[in-house]
Amino acid sequence: MSSDDGDLEASRSDRVEIEPPEGFVSQANVSDEGIYDEFEENWPECWEAAADLLDWEEDYDQVLDDSNEPFYEWFTGGTLNASYNCLDRHVENGRGEEVAIQWVGEPTDEGNRGITYEELLAEVEAFAATLRDLGVEKGDVVTMHMPMIPELPVAMLACARIGAPHSVVFAGFSAEALATRMNSADSEYLVTCDGYYRRGDPLDHLEKANSGLASVEHEVSDVVVVDRLGEDGFGHDLADDQHDYASLVADHEGEAVDPASQDAEDMLFLMYTSGTTGEPKGIKHTTGGYLSWASWTSRAVLDIKPEDTYFCTADIGWITGHSYIVYGPLALGSTTVMYEGTPDFPERDRLWEIVAEYECNQFYTAPTAIRSFMKWGSKYPASHDLSSLRLLGTVGEPINPRPWKWYHEHIGGEECPIVDTWWQTETGGIMVTTLPGVKKTKPGSAGPGLPGVDVRVVDADGEEVEADEAGYLTVHNPWPGMLRTVYKNDERYIEEFWAEYSDPDADEWVYFPEDGAGIDAEGYLTVLGRVDDTMNVSGHRIGTAEVENAIVEVEGVAEAAVVGAEHETKGEAVHAYVTTEEGQEGTDDLRDAIVESVENGIGAFARPGGIVFTPDLPKTRSGKIMRRLLEDVANGDELGDTSTLRNPEIVEEIQSKASAG
Ligand code: WTA
Repeated sequence: MSSDDGDLEASRSDRVEIEPPEGFVSQANVSDEGIYDEFEENWPECWEAAADLLDWEEDYDQVLDDSNEPFYEWFTGGTLNASYNCLDRHVENGRGEEVAIQWVGEPTDEGNRGITYEELLAEVEAFAATLRDLGVEKGDVVTMHMPMIPELPVAMLACARIGAPHSVVFAGFSAEALATRMNSADSEYLVTCDGYYRRGDPLDHLEKANSGLASVEHEVSDVVVVDRLGEDGFGHDLADDQHDYASLVADHEGEAVDPASQDAEDMLFLMYTSGTTGEPKGIKHTTGGYLSWASWTSRAVLDIKPEDTYFCTADIGWITGHSYIVYGPLALGSTTVMYEGTPDFPERDRLWEIVAEYECNQFYTAPTAIRSFMKWGSKYPASHDLSSLRLLGTVGEPINPRPWKWYHEHIGGEECPIVDTWWQTETGGIMVTTLPGVKKTKPGSAGPGLPGVDVRVVDADGEEVEADEAGYLTVHNPWPGMLRTVYKNDERYIEEFWAEYSDPDADEWVYFPEDGAGIDAEGYLTVLGRVDDTMNVSGHRIGTAEVENAIVEVEGVAEAAVVGAEHETKGEAVHAYVTTEEGQEGTDDLRDAIVESVENGIGAFARPGGIVFTPDLPKTRSGKIMRRLLEDVANGDELGDTSTLRNPEIVEEIQSKASAG
């Protein structure tokens, strides 16, 4: 972990500490430091505090059932409905006319919409009635392949209403990636759209969805298509099993659909994420545990109050959007801003314009975005009134002190606490960060585990490391928002997350998120990044194996190794090292075919930034590719140990090719 130690060093030498601003503390949802001891002493019952944020139909009997570790169950015996908690109860409390979703479309000349809780509930009921009519039953997985349009959260909540788990596939994923996920989930229903806008131009989405559908192995009963583009559309004719969203919803307008009574442990959704092998894993989240976690963390960390307007720039197609655009903010009854477009269209001040126009109170984004803002310059935020902001957040990758400070100064006016939140698709919500009304922040360090979350940094043997030493991040007790399993693959659940550091004979179960980290004397964690074979490109987790699989599909390619190379704004960029078959040259055409295959296999966001053709890949004597050395090459670093290689000479050759190309 030599380069990682360097990062720890950098964060230490640059250590500034910032106390929570008094003005913030006095109004914070959580401001009592005692919560840490209280939760530790009263664990796991402390998590009743999270469950209490929800309305339960039947109260639960037990907070945590750990009789079958590591298959934990939370709030067992309880029943509830997620859509009821996100919608009906606010309407019943007289808040139906408050805006639930403030939708902002990419084209600026188009009517943005403030959808009230009442309106959202009505549309969710109409779509829930539609889904039922199409034959969707409790437990059927409904896939959504949609961009940031209001029909996406409507469809998610409609599924939740009738107890059908949703599986949202990020709109940027390719047709093949969509098909893989539908196949894995045996999903027979798809909600999608004709297209959407990117940088002012309409983009065809249905063509891609259709091509994905062609690769689904089972019969797909129905496809619902939202008409997003209207006259800008691509003139697709809908097939027999394809229905226009608006007509269906109109047919069911005004129909009441009672929220289904869901067991706390019933699956709320699946979210596919990349792992060590090429096959994405379906992360299963449940109704009671996940929703209480999304709500509790939204309240305690993001400091969301019902009267707030809150803006998270993530895409709902990833977990951050699920937890912190849809479920958390809506369960708390606040206004959540949902923006269709990119931060730099039509100008680089688009997000600041939105913050000012809707007087947003919180702003939650990713370090990759902050690095771009910083590069574009402070004049863009400076030209807008950002004084409504009270709190800033970051998520998705480590943030270095420099962009942290820029964010603090130019977006937060040095008055907003920053929460650097570490978590994952698997954890359901935030796990490590500073409670903003309680803890000082240290730029570059995410902070301690949340109250009741026991995080530690250990070495390869599972022993806790000394302060400021690099090691592996581990979680030593379960939490309500945790994944329950990898869909239809309990073995993989244990192997990927619990096998490394648990001692089942001693009944000790340790969750391993596959991140490297260091911890300081005050228990503040500096997360160093993934230690498995996944990359973090602009905050998107991409498996090296997935990209490699797409590359070796190309005719003429023999072998491929993919690594993440440091990149100024993206965090990491995809670099590919490719060997060709006998008689095949590393031509530009082959390069294009490789790029195309990655775009088709995964999506344009995984496109390799560099492709190096080489006669061989560095391999150990047992034939394992040494990615670490390729990372050194990609980063222009000094080479690590090559003595265990079967073919040490190849590394220098690759190095010279890489610097030439
Ligand atoms: C990384 C996104 C450093 C980490 C919510 C994790 C972070 C992976 C941070 C999960 C952070 C997330 N500091 N690294 N604050 N937050 N990560 O599943 O490597 O898309 O394991 O979930 O992002 O990515 P995922």
